[in-house]
Amino acid sequence: MIFPETRLRRLRYNTVLRNMVTETKLSVDDLVMPLFVCAGTNVRNPISSMPGNYQLSVENLVEECKKVYESGVKAVLLFGIPAEKDEDGTVACQHNGIVQQAIRAIKAEIADMYIIADVCNCEYTTHGHCGTIIDGDVDNDSTLETLAAQSVSLAEAGADMIAPSDMMDGRVGRIREALDENKFEKIPIMAYSAKYASGFYGPFREAAESAPKFGNRSTYQMNPANSDEALREVELDIAEGADIVMVKPALSYLDVIYRVKTEFRMPTAAYNVSGEFSMLKAAEERDWIDGARVMMEILTSIKRAGADIIITYSAVDAANILNGIK
Ligand code: PBG
Repeated sequence: MIFPETRLRRLRYNTVLRNMVTETKLSVDDLVMPLFVCAGTNVRNPISSMPGNYQLSVENLVEECKKVYESGVKAVLLFGIPAEKDEDGTVACQHNGIVQQAIRAIKAEIADMYIIADVCNCEYTTHGHCGTIIDGDVDNDSTLETLAAQSVSLAEAGADMIAPSDMMDGRVGRIREALDENKFEKIPIMAYSAKYASGFYGPFREAAESAPKFGNRSTYQMNPANSDEALREVELDIAEGADIVMVKPALSYLDVIYRVKTEFRMPTAAYNVSGEFSMLKAAEERDWIDGARVMMEILTSIKRAGADIIITYSAVDAANILNGIK
């Protein structure tokens, strides 16, 4: 059956029909909103490169979470900006650490908000690297201990899920072991499994004040040229006990999302990162693109590639569109 019998345009003439045959449907349930919490009171610092995003002190974060929840987005991913940093990031493990305070405050006001805690040292170390420095290098095995302690501390504060983003070898297994030892066997781990050394993280590092003071992250984050290696990373994380695997960034890595989903059939998350969001916003501000339309196209493409969960600074904007509010 070829032309003129086959006319693919037949299914495109009517909106109802187009909707019926839509293969990929983005849902509010897929979305996670990242938020930045900082020390102090009444802080609401705009992040210049990420319009609409702020560094928020705890009480303002709670108010923001209410807006997020009302939009239909029921999950947030928290990043902390502590008042003080140290050499190995142990400030991230304190009972009264900034994210720990934030988790308790959110849970007290919005009990059903699902809180995912990012686990990494780069926001908490004076040098901005994701682990402890020994002989000028990020030391893998000693870093596993601070990551495990941070995870347990965040779970104690009430985090619903732990999401390690550091890219140390063996961290999923070590964190799983520490969580289980502390009776948090029901807390899932979402591993940033294929996390690339990406220029797209630039705006985030302004937001989280986490840029490395020397060198770069190429000795632990992945080379953007590799995707077989991404499958090895994912395979190891699954073997170590990851419940959800992640590809990050998303937009330039749709092929990696596709390969991971096809190969492992695991719940798969994709992180539509800060630089991807900033590019969208910058072009939108100049009226070079229709921002809302391109945003939905990007998110739908990430889902079409195979992501079940999309972490995005566009979560609330997308939810409003999905709910017919904008
Ligand atoms: C921490 C971390 C980073 C991001 C998430 N967790 C930055 C980095 O690795 O430098 C980036 C998120 C974004 O760009 O939106 N390791």
